[in-house]
Amino acid sequence: MSKLLKEEIVSIEKIAREIYKISIKSDYVSDNAVPGQFVNIRCSDGITALLRRPISICDVDKAKGTFDICFQIKGIGTEYLAKKTAGETIDIIAPIGKPFHLSSEYKTIAVVGGGIGVFPLLHLLKESSGSQRYAFLGFRNKEFVVLEDEFSAASNKLNISTDDGSAGYKGLVTDLLENELKEKGIDIIYACGPTPMLRNVMKIAQAYNTKCQVSMEQRMGCGIGACLVCACKTKAENEDGWEYSHVCKDGPVFWSNEIILD
Ligand SMILES: Cc1cc2nc3c(=O)[nH]c(=O)nc-3n(C[C@H](O)[C@H](O)[C@H](O)COP(=O)(O)OP(=O)(O)OC[C@H]3O[C@@H](n4cnc5c(N)ncnc54)[C@H](O)[C@@H]3O)c2cc1C
Ligand code: FES
Repeated sequence: MSKLLKEEIVSIEKIAREIYKISIKSDYVSDNAVPGQFVNIRCSDGITALLRRPISICDVDKAKGTFDICFQIKGIGTEYLAKKTAGETIDIIAPIGKPFHLSSEYKTIAVVGGGIGVFPLLHLLKESSGSQRYAFLGFRNKEFVVLEDEFSAASNKLNISTDDGSAGYKGLVTDLLENELKEKGIDIIYACGPTPMLRNVMKIAQAYNTKCQVSMEQRMGCGIGACLVCACKTKAENEDGWEYSHVCKDGPVFWSNEIILD
């Protein structure tokens, strides 16, 4: 169950170009959060950035009772967030959302992340019981590569790609996924990132008959299913064959065979 909480910021650090990590003390979130869930943050006290901003739970330390979020500065909300300091209180609703499906049946798993979509996948890798855990992460260029050591420690094999080749493979992260699938089977793929990447991952999963879940990072308004800002198309048994679902209420995680990405 999600709760409205006022928690203490333990630390804040810049971890890459325009990207920050905030560690938050919260026994409730660290005890209850499962991979794929997010927090809805009130970024400022005034009327600017009034709406809460959704940010994924990136890592959880149950022993310390803390969790981490990582975010890229995009606009006013994340700009405010980057100015927070250790010791300050942060107003959150957490943990929220339909999580990734984890099962002891999934022995070989692959996570595929693009840009800010990599963040929820670290928590997932750490919680997965899969004996083979592959990470495929794509970034614009080396300045945006984040959490390399953390993903390397949490996976058996970390594969990085950049658009310009300044770090890792030059090209699409989905090329790396497909190369792996040509070599060996994967029980499930979990993906989060920009829509063109998700579209590619879903196509590859279908071609290789592999289970796949995607986490959608749609722009949000109310965050509680009352507006249509976060609408996405999902398959339905009606005349049109589809309906609108809400990422905030029905997601953010969906099975790839239930979502329609136009
Ligand atoms: C479930 C979920 C989890 C998320 N997890 C993370 C995370 O872990 N780390 C992270 O950095 N971001 C994450 N995001 C995206 C994050 O919520 C937005 O970047 C943030 O709300 C932007 O707020 P802002 O006030 O800084 O920008 P705004 O001023 O609201 O917008 C600035 C610009 O960014 C665009 N924009 C805003 N939100 C989004 C969005 N969701 N997708 C694409 N473009 C957008 C706007 O159209 C505008 O051009 C997540 C989104 C969702 C829905
Ligand atoms: S953000 Fe308003 S319905 Fe999802």
